[in-house]
Amino acid sequence: MSENPESKWFGEKPVEAEDKTGMVHGVFSNVADKYDIMNDLMSGGIHRLWKDRFIRMIRPRQGLRYLDVAGGTGDIAFRIRQKIGKKADITLCDLTENMLRVGRDRAINKGWINDFDWITGNAETLPFEDNSFDVYTIAFGLRNVTRIDNALKEAYRVLKPGGRFFCLEFSKVRNPLLSKGYDVYSSFVIPKIGKVVAGDRDSYQYLIESIRKHPGQRELQQRLQRAGFKNATFSNLSAGIACIHSGLKV
Ligand SMILES: C[S@@+](CC[C@H](N)C(=O)[O-])C[C@H]1O[C@@H](n2cnc3c(N)ncnc32)[C@H](O)[C@@H]1O
Repeated sequence: MSENPESKWFGEKPVEAEDKTGMVHGVFSNVADKYDIMNDLMSGGIHRLWKDRFIRMIRPRQGLRYLDVAGGTGDIAFRIRQKIGKKADITLCDLTENMLRVGRDRAINKGWINDFDWITGNAETLPFEDNSFDVYTIAFGLRNVTRIDNALKEAYRVLKPGGRFFCLEFSKVRNPLLSKGYDVYSSFVIPKIGKVVAGDRDSYQYLIESIRKHPGQRELQQRLQRAGFKNATFSNLSAGIACIHSGLKV
């Protein structure tokens, strides 16, 4: 398996690797203001249950440093903060300022604005020192990264020895009947909702295509191992529509 095969694809369109990150940035700049409502509409609220499950697997506790990469509007960071309380040490890092702006507004509404570090940055070249964090999370972010293998190596670099990696992402549905139904729903319904609610069919078309292009469970597990993670494993959610991968830096 060659490294970073996804770098030449923007959804299902072939692109030059050096153009892709800018295109992804454009998508999330456009959808930021409608991102949260669209998540609920597209998934019927199920993304909340997946994120709750993700947090239960992480088992957040006080005294550890958390880094939420592709943290966007804050769903994962807020859940960690909710579990730990005011003493939580959480950094969000995201490529797109507009997504972080929406996240900061949400944090203000919760009275939590000073409880997080908000950093603009790329998962492939994280602006943090080696061995800095105890827990690295990335939720629905990895499939948008131009070079996934580079991002996994960066995750490994910034984690402390003993640090844990957790990724929540769409994955491959194994049941053929469910897979067909899911395909029809995502191909025809989601871009239409995107057009009506967010006035942006193309961005939601990309988001659906990026799900289809994202590596399946086993491939991502192998790529985690190749990046150096031990105990790389995965757990399917909703028959594989989504999946949690985890790994350990020793
Ligand atoms: C689908 S949103 C997920 C947001 C949030 N984690 C959640 O679960 O709701 C994907 C996020 O990934 C960010 N992103 C895309 N490529 C990135 C990269 N190379 N580095 C960091 N963040 C990236 C986008 O800006 C966007 O905020």
